[in-house]
Amino acid sequence: MRKKIVAGNWKMNMDLAEGLKFTASIDKYFKDKPSGKAQVILCTPFIHLAGASDILKHGKVALGAQNCASEASGAYTGEVSAWMIKSTGAEYVIIGHSERRTYYHEDDKLLSKKTLLAINSGLKVIFCIGESLNERESGKHFLIVKRQLEEGLFTLTENQMDMIVLAYEPVWAIGTGLTASPEQAQEMHKYIRDLVKEKYGNECAKKMPILYGGSCKPSNAAEIFSKPDVDGGLIGGAALKKEDFTAIVEAF
Ligand code: PGA
Repeated sequence: MRKKIVAGNWKMNMDLAEGLKFTASIDKYFKDKPSGKAQVILCTPFIHLAGASDILKHGKVALGAQNCASEASGAYTGEVSAWMIKSTGAEYVIIGHSERRTYYHEDDKLLSKKTLLAINSGLKVIFCIGESLNERESGKHFLIVKRQLEEGLFTLTENQMDMIVLAYEPVWAIGTGLTASPEQAQEMHKYIRDLVKEKYGNECAKKMPILYGGSCKPSNAAEIFSKPDVDGGLIGGAALKKEDFTAIVEAF
């Protein structure tokens, strides 16, 4: 059976004290529960990683970053490398989020470079793909997602694909309150799995977790997660509230 995953993407929210307090409350919540079906991951801003890692080290919740540099080390003022992230105890990094593609002009080539650096540093990559509203309305959504996969990810070897979790996030559903219908999500997730299968074979496709992201909340999570090719969620806004986030995890 494929791994189920619910990852919270805090984006640029919470100062250090707030973030660590929140981390501790999530850690405690899942420590007190019998093991659920899903791996829970918190993807925090860089400043929280070391402290959060300390809090989470004996618990069930994993830790991730939201971005990493496109170079390994050196004179890149203000950047944080994949290896530095790994050294905090974090296990995951989000790469290719639509906000990075749009606001920071990160293209497929750059994302492919970041992904390789992250994997070589021992980090698992939550690799995000998804079309804009325009692209969906003009019927190009499958083409866009295919290009993002082929140029950004399919340069990896089959072994390296073990380090990948995919996240389909239609840009028009992120932070907008609009959600892809469970049928739209399933249709795209199946398409993505078929592309992985075509390139890397059935075994790789069968074990690849594909998460849905975009206005996922307690009221819609169970229905979306019930689809056969949806293996969990990447959660933005609802990951900032303990009640909402834990309810989404429990939707499995
Ligand atoms: P949202 O964000 O849940 O607030 O729509 C999801 C994401 O951007 O990962």
